Amino acid sequence: MNSDELKDTVKVVRNWLVEARDNVLRKIDSRLKVDTKSGRSDLVTNIDRANEQFFVSKIRQFDPEAKILGEEGFGDQVDNIDGRIWIVDPIDGTMNFVKQRNHFAMMISLYIDGQGVLGFIMDVINNELLYGGPEYGVYLNSTKIDEVKNTNLSDGLIGLSGPLVINDNFHMQDIAQTSLGMRIYGSAGIDMISVFKGELIGYISYLKPWDFGAGKIFAETLGLKMTTIDGQQLGVLSSKPVLLATENAHRDILTIVKK
Ligand code: IPD
Ligand code: CA
Ligand code: CA
Ligand code: CA
Repeated sequence: MNSDELKDTVKVVRNWLVEARDNVLRKIDSRLKVDTKSGRSDLVTNIDRANEQFFVSKIRQFDPEAKILGEEGFGDQVDNIDGRIWIVDPIDGTMNFVKQRNHFAMMISLYIDGQGVLGFIMDVINNELLYGGPEYGVYLNSTKIDEVKNTNLSDGLIGLSGPLVINDNFHMQDIAQTSLGMRIYGSAGIDMISVFKGELIGYISYLKPWDFGAGKIFAETLGLKMTTIDGQQLGVLSSKPVLLATENAHRDILTIVKK
């Protein structure tokens, strides 16, 4: 995409997110319709569905040839990385949304032939939007993020997912103990915004494409590393335990994982 197309796309997607945020805030005190998916902690609400339908219809109008991969199934069946793929997580942190009406995000990303082009993560309640990509740069609202300090694991806070810590998968408790402290925010989007703001030195969770699509683009742009938990390359359509961290913390964590 040339720079005019990039600018135009950023402007358009930011408008979708502003509109979607208004829609969510308008309904935030309403009674939610909550359904379970794979188990009692895997929830979907009428707002997740309405948001995804909203984004899918906007994307179809704007980019009719593209494929759409959406968590709640209103997009397409996507089984290869060819061409333009929009990835949508309409509400990330649905449990937080249901229980706290806070600490949740909306995430959108665009890949072309498997290469990340633009990502968007919006913290709905704080009205913080992280957006951009390798050719555009990464911005938090209107402030450009140039670099994230390359902190070691022992000098920072690490964001983890609850199930990985409870089950001590991949020596997660050792990783937490080596760090200055662990945080469990319950939304990959909120965790990743914190990493790119330099508040966390990394984040580890089992993730699907809609959970990591935008974050992977920011990581690649800002010199952080996002790989599978054992340090392998993360394909955009994979569902795997994912490790996002500063270069130093990534090295420190891999040493513990491989013990
Ligand atoms: C989940 C959240 C959670 C993470 C899970 C995700 P959802 O997304 O980001 O923090 O640990 O792996 O599935 O289902 O609320 O969009
Ligand atoms: Ca979900
Ligand atoms: Ca998610
Ligand atoms: Ca979701």
